Amino acid sequence: MPKDFVKPFCPLKAHSKLLILGAGFSGQRIAKIVKALGTEVLCSRRNINSPGADFQFDSKKPDLPSIDSLKDITHVLSCIPPSNNGEDPVLTRLLRHLEKMPLQWVGYLSTTGVYGDSKGAWVSEKNTPKPEQPRSIRRLACEQAWVSSGLPIQILRLPGIYGPKRSALENLTGSKGKIIEKPGQVFSRVHVDDIAGAALHLINKTTKGEWPLVVNIADDLPTSNKNVLNYAAKLLNQPLPRVQPFEQAVEEMSSMALSFWKENRRISNNLLCKELGYSLLHPDYRSGLRDCLKYFKS
Ligand SMILES: NC(=O)c1ccc[n+]([C@@H]2O[C@H](COP(=O)([O-])OP(=O)(O)OC[C@H]3O[C@@H](n4cnc5c(N)ncnc54)[C@H](OP(=O)(O)O)[C@@H]3O)[C@@H](O)[C@H]2O)c1
Repeated sequence: MPKDFVKPFCPLKAHSKLLILGAGFSGQRIAKIVKALGTEVLCSRRNINSPGADFQFDSKKPDLPSIDSLKDITHVLSCIPPSNNGEDPVLTRLLRHLEKMPLQWVGYLSTTGVYGDSKGAWVSEKNTPKPEQPRSIRRLACEQAWVSSGLPIQILRLPGIYGPKRSALENLTGSKGKIIEKPGQVFSRVHVDDIAGAALHLINKTTKGEWPLVVNIADDLPTSNKNVLNYAAKLLNQPLPRVQPFEQAVEEMSSMALSFWKENRRISNNLLCKELGYSLLHPDYRSGLRDCLKYFKS
């Protein structure tokens, strides 16, 4: 990773050691950035042969990593979603391990789905969560379990995550050449590098006593999928995809896809960016997609 790339990120202090539980899309990218800043990072995946896996952790399997293999960890980031029964896979299996570590900060990647539907209005951390989808109800239960764990927790609530090799550029090929349009509907997003940047910024702030329990990490510009896909098409010099009205598209949508379109909210990042002073690397989808283009292979 080029030196210039890591310039904007705030490094962890010397002798820190970060444990990333569930180094999938976000975890892998965050690990790369934090390693490039000179901090030791350990990553779990469910399969030891998966890229970037330092050790195996699958909450559904009996084997657990030894406590010795996880010693001296100072910071933890859990990227593992709730189990189907609503329990947190990390807390149910690894809490005793975590309690033995000299932890300074534990981050939990949650979702802004916990806010439910605001009918397009802005939503901040001050809004009481009103999850409507079963997966968001499970998510809120996991947040609450982390808060009650006694660990030095901070909850990072994320909207749609995109980044290199997982963005509207790739979605264009999968969109069967069409864009779904639902007037008034917007989605919030965050570029994966801003999850890393914001997490590092927040860790730094906690050392100065600024420790809000919950922080939204979103860009400045919630917008429609149509705008994002049109911009992706422009970057790829492709014709603009055909627009299909939502009412028509509904008929062939999976229940999961449908559940995303049921909720409409704009996620406020005021706490992160104004009160805590984080500068987004990618304040909107245009900047983010231009970055993703560097990694795009058609
Ligand atoms: N994708 C989005 O747009 C979005 C939006 C908001 C919030 N989130 C949440 O933010 C977090 C990170 O998102 P992401 O897209 O980076 O997720 P991801 O790529 O799907 O990574 C999830 C990680 O959790 C691990 N995992 C899943 N179930 C597990 C279990 N039972 N035991 C142990 N490990 C398990 C996976 O293991 P493997 O590496 O072996 O697959 C993977 O490393 C997730 O909790 C996600 O739900 C995602």
